[in-house]
Amino acid sequence: EDIPSLAAAYAEYFPIGAAVEPFQTTGLKSELLKKHVNYLVAENVMKPDAIHPSEDKYNWENTDKIVEFAKINGMELRFHTLVWHTQVGNWFFTDAEGKPMVDETDPVKQEENKKLLLDRLDSHVRTIVSRYKDDIKSWDVVNEVIEPGDPEGMRASEWYKIAGPDFIETAFRAAREAGGPNIKLYINDYGTDNPAKRDHLYKLVKELMDKGVPIDGVGHQTHIDLYGPTVTSVIESMQMFSDLGLDNLVTELDMSIYAWDDHSDYGEEIPEEILQKQAERYHELFEAFKENKEILSGVVFWGIADDHTWLDSFPIERTNAPLLFDKQLHAKPAFWGVVDPS
Ligand code: XIL
Repeated sequence: EDIPSLAAAYAEYFPIGAAVEPFQTTGLKSELLKKHVNYLVAENVMKPDAIHPSEDKYNWENTDKIVEFAKINGMELRFHTLVWHTQVGNWFFTDAEGKPMVDETDPVKQEENKKLLLDRLDSHVRTIVSRYKDDIKSWDVVNEVIEPGDPEGMRASEWYKIAGPDFIETAFRAAREAGGPNIKLYINDYGTDNPAKRDHLYKLVKELMDKGVPIDGVGHQTHIDLYGPTVTSVIESMQMFSDLGLDNLVTELDMSIYAWDDHSDYGEEIPEEILQKQAERYHELFEAFKENKEILSGVVFWGIADDHTWLDSFPIERTNAPLLFDKQLHAKPAFWGVVDPS
C-alpha cells in the first residue's frame, strides 16, 4: 500500500511506537511495523510473570527477540513493566513455608516478609535492568499503583499490603543504580486525566521527588474511547506533571469504538460514521500532541492493527477496532486523521 509512513510524518515531533508480541516481528505484521513505527514495547513478554516466572528462573528469549528486531530496524525500545499487581508470579508473595504473605498475622513475621519481598523485588529489578540497560532507554518501573477507591489512593495490591508504599521507592532506586543516569524511569497508569486519579498520582510523585527517589516521568496509558475523556483533560494532566519537571509519554494508546459502559457489539459491520468519528477524534488528539510536543516525548499505540487488540476481550468479548489499521492491515480513516493526506 502506497501510503506515507506514520513515524516519518511525526519525525519532527516525537517517536511513534507499538506494543508487539514476539511472533509479530516476522511476516506481514513486521513489514507494517517497520514502515510505520520507530519505537517498540512488548505487549506481554516483559511482564513479571513472563520474564521472571519463578525465583531462580528468568526467560530472556522472548524479550531478546523484540530487542533484536528493534535494533536491526533502528527502533527505540521501552520496557513494560518491572512491577505490576497482575501478570506477576505468586512466588513473590509466598513465604519460605509456602504461606501467602498477606495471610500472616504475626507482626514479627510480617516484618520479615516485607524484607523478603523487597529483597526479591530489588534483585528482580537489578537483574533485568542490568541485562537491557544499553538497549532499552525507557522503563515502566511501576504500573497502576494508584487506585482512588482504595485507602490513601494507593492500590491495595499484594505489593502494597505486604510492603506498604516502600516497594515503589525500592523499585525506582534499584532501577537507577543498575541502569545508571541514561535510562529514563516512569510511573505508568491509566485514567491519568481523571482528576481523582491524577491528584493521587501527583501527590505520590511529588513525595517521591521530595525524598530524592529517581523518577523521570509519567507514562499515560491513554486507553480512551470514542466518547471520552476530553483531549483538553489529557493535555492538562501532562502539563501538571511537566510543571513538576517530569517527562510525559503516551504509553498504550488505543480508542475503543464503544463507550465504557456500553456492552453492545457491531460485529464485523462497523458503521462508517463510527470510523469517521474515530478519525476526527484521533485527529483532534494528535493535533494537541503536536502542539504540546515540548511536554510529550513519545506516543506508543497498544498494538498496530485491529486484527490483534486486547479490546476484543476487554472488558467483554466483542469486535473492537481501536487502532489506525484494519484487520487486513489497511489504513483506516483514523490513520488519515493523524497523517496529512497531502
Ligand atoms: C494487556 C495485554 O494487551 C493483554 O494481551 C493481556 O492479556 C493483559 O494485558 N494496561 C496495561 C497493559 O498496562 O499491560 C495491558 O496489556 C492493558 C492494560
